[in-house]
Amino acid sequence: MAQSSRAVAVSDQVQHSSASTMRSFLVTGATDGIGLLTVLLLARSGPTVQHIGIHGRSPERIANTVAQIREVNKTVDIKTFCYDLSDGLQVVRFAEDMVQTYNAPELSLDCLVNNAGIIEADDAAGPTYVSLPSGKKVERTFMVNVWAPFKLSVAALQHFSSQNSPLKRLLVTSSTMHYSPAKCHASVNGLDYDNLQFEKGGWNKLGSYGLSKLLEVMFTRGLFLEGIIPPTTTALTLHPGVVNTKLLFQGWGPFGIPLKDATDTYWLCYDQRYDNPGEMPLYYSGLRQTKVAAQAEDGDACRKLTRYLASMN
Ligand SMILES: NC(=O)c1ccc[n+]([C@@H]2O[C@H](COP(=O)([O-])OP(=O)(O)OC[C@H]3O[C@@H](n4cnc5c(N)ncnc54)[C@H](OP(=O)(O)O)[C@@H]3O)[C@@H](O)[C@H]2O)c1
Repeated sequence: MAQSSRAVAVSDQVQHSSASTMRSFLVTGATDGIGLLTVLLLARSGPTVQHIGIHGRSPERIANTVAQIREVNKTVDIKTFCYDLSDGLQVVRFAEDMVQTYNAPELSLDCLVNNAGIIEADDAAGPTYVSLPSGKKVERTFMVNVWAPFKLSVAALQHFSSQNSPLKRLLVTSSTMHYSPAKCHASVNGLDYDNLQFEKGGWNKLGSYGLSKLLEVMFTRGLFLEGIIPPTTTALTLHPGVVNTKLLFQGWGPFGIPLKDATDTYWLCYDQRYDNPGEMPLYYSGLRQTKVAAQAEDGDACRKLTRYLASMN
């Protein structure tokens, strides 16, 4: 089950991918699964990739990722970020660290890949609540899958857009599960903001996960509609495939594709064919532009969610 304990097989075809103008990448949740594969593929991409930022929550697993990268690329610059995204204070510190790290004249950030994600293990245990910096409690799936990537994305978009080298690409990893949020949020009439943390009940691990993935698509579109995504930045959301990772095992079981074949996230962050700056963020599944859920088509709903998340501290 744990891919990080051994090297991930990396396809040779990556060496023949089309050139990218992007040189520096930061991938969250890079210590396992799709994030780990993505940084290894970036490390194999040749001299255009000069910097890889690795985020994880465990120093040992980060060290393991660095060692795997060094096996395929001895020279790429690496910076590591160790923060637990289920802790609101650590999310804020990570965002500050990111801004400071990529503020240097010699190092800017071209691409942020929001990849880290969770699904809870046990329906019977019920939801787990964790704290925002203000002390307000939110459900853990919401914190890791929604609030953390929202905060990181806004920090990168707002800060780096005022620099000489604005963020070129922003990825927010969603899922086909975004079509299936918890029933209490499935209405096209809109989200129930009084039950966003399942205060009124209706929680189960799949519904909560589906809701988080819907909110990711919605806030990314909301960021565009609110004018927070600069015209030079390509933002996109994606379903990375059904992949045999510990997240899939925890949520459903081992019926996905092998991790070595889960290259969509890599292509969408690296390949210039997905450049679409200044346009409404597209949603990709199987590397094809795909229609989003009806709720995410609703621009007003996406803007409302974005403003709501921005107000949560
Ligand atoms: N696998 C699929 O079939 C599938 C399908 C659709 C969408 N996705 C999405 O793809 C993304 C990657 O998933 P995956 O399948 O590769 O999952 P995974 O193998 O479980 O890896 C998740 C990564 O996120 C990190 N992470 C988890 N909780 C964290 C926390 N609280 N703080 C910081 N980092 C944390 C993990 O760190 P550790 O190494 O310490 O555990 C790991 O690096 C997720 O957003 C997921 O929702 C996956």
